[in-house]
Amino acid sequence: MNIAFAPATGHGLGSPPAPPCVLVIFGATGDLTHRLLTPALYNLERSGLLAPDFAIVGVGRSDMSADALRQDLHEGLQRYAAGKQGPNGPLQVDEDAWKRLTADLDYLAGDLNDPQTYVRLGERIAASRGGKGAEGGVLYYLAVAPSLFEPIIEGLHSAGLTRQEGEAWRRVIIEKPFGHDLASAQALNRKVLSLLGEDQVFRIDHFLGKETVQNIMAFRFGNGLFEPVWNRDHIDHVQITVAETVGVEKRGAFYDAAGALRDMVPNHLVQLFTLTAMEPPSSFQADAVRNRKQDVLLATKPLSPEEVVRDVVRGQYQAGEIAGEPRAAYRGEPNVAQDSRTETYVAMRLMIDNWRWAGVPFFLRTGKALARRTTEIAIQFKHAPLALFQGVGMERCPGNWLVIQIQPDEGISLQFGAKVPGPRLRLEPVQMQFSYVDHFQAQPGTGYETLIYDAMTGDQTLFQRADNIESAWELVEPILEAWRDPAAPLSPYPAGSSGPEQAEALLGNHGRRWRPILPR
Ligand code: BG6
Repeated sequence: MNIAFAPATGHGLGSPPAPPCVLVIFGATGDLTHRLLTPALYNLERSGLLAPDFAIVGVGRSDMSADALRQDLHEGLQRYAAGKQGPNGPLQVDEDAWKRLTADLDYLAGDLNDPQTYVRLGERIAASRGGKGAEGGVLYYLAVAPSLFEPIIEGLHSAGLTRQEGEAWRRVIIEKPFGHDLASAQALNRKVLSLLGEDQVFRIDHFLGKETVQNIMAFRFGNGLFEPVWNRDHIDHVQITVAETVGVEKRGAFYDAAGALRDMVPNHLVQLFTLTAMEPPSSFQADAVRNRKQDVLLATKPLSPEEVVRDVVRGQYQAGEIAGEPRAAYRGEPNVAQDSRTETYVAMRLMIDNWRWAGVPFFLRTGKALARRTTEIAIQFKHAPLALFQGVGMERCPGNWLVIQIQPDEGISLQFGAKVPGPRLRLEPVQMQFSYVDHFQAQPGTGYETLIYDAMTGDQTLFQRADNIESAWELVEPILEAWRDPAAPLSPYPAGSSGPEQAEALLGNHGRRWRPILPR
């Protein structure tokens, strides 16, 4: 975690280029490579953060030439650029940067279950970077279906392509989902760590690539103001929301087997939760940070079956309307079972049993087809003592909310009460607001730039360690278990709403209310 991304060509100002390496992309013709990896690599190239003789070897099933892949990825990049606004309208692809990025691009078609594919891959790696490919680093990016993680790692290992020596490091980036429950995550970790060292494994959670997520630590530990009040003496409760307006789009088959809990909680929501709750690390070294995040997970009480019933809500969207457009019910989405009981919404209460947080509820919620896209961490501070203002006819002072807005409209706001001008003493909530775009004029990148650069420089701070992943699954395991019961409740909510009514009751029962998710 050693670069700060600034706008346009200024990404990562002041950081040195990554060491020479070959990036091998498994799944080179896939969606992730087009939508995110290529734009991220292009942004890195424009910012001078790739070594001059950087090389790419794409691997995929389709038979095609390197030129055809280059062309295909260029189209993806054009779509990405066209969706970004520059000062003079949509951005144009910087063709010089593109040429530099893809000057040394190769493509290998092959069956990933065939050992010969890896032998040929070894030859391609060796031939890249002017014949020096095997002498420097090699980063393998597994942008493929999870069923291929093990065969690829085994294939690489058997062909001797994971062996490291000196500058010739070998690292593997593994995309999510890492397992579909605790047992499968443990099994995958066992397999991976039987063939690779933990220092070679980069388990990605793309939320950690977001500037605003990284800023949680900067905000908490870089300012003397907040840390002293960041505890149960001052904080009433915390709400973490990841609300989306999208439905399942073309991913019905994957999503119907996964559901909102698996898709979002043990990864993205847990990241926001641990970064908010962790103790200050002794440094920003990878393990120092990951140890403190792990402490939070270990101190979080696993839910009992009774608590799952009381403190977890699962919902599924029905037909409704979002931003004036009709939206079909989840069960009407392509590749979703018509009697599906898969959740598209989940809300829960978690408690952390440690000195800092004892008694402070953390409410987490995420859902699809909601009224508005918003990801935020909202911290409600305890109310001021009532006595003073009761005398002037006010029952309650407005609360103090600190809201870290992760996306969109990235920023931070602090709400406090101010006196309404006039003869009466009356308080009204007002906001102090910091906005990323206004202050830094920054165009957010894809979020993958930092992660790829960090993997190339060997910095694992923003990647999940084996125990982090398993502890996160341990947290959701009792919920998965309870929901295996076909009679477990599933609460409907209209598309375009803020979620099921039962979620309101979840907070209501604890004397709190969710912050509304209002349409724009
Ligand atoms: C992915 C989930 O990991 O994260 C998706 O699989 C979800 O279902 C996405 O939509 C949200 O990420 P972002 O960056 O768009 O907020």
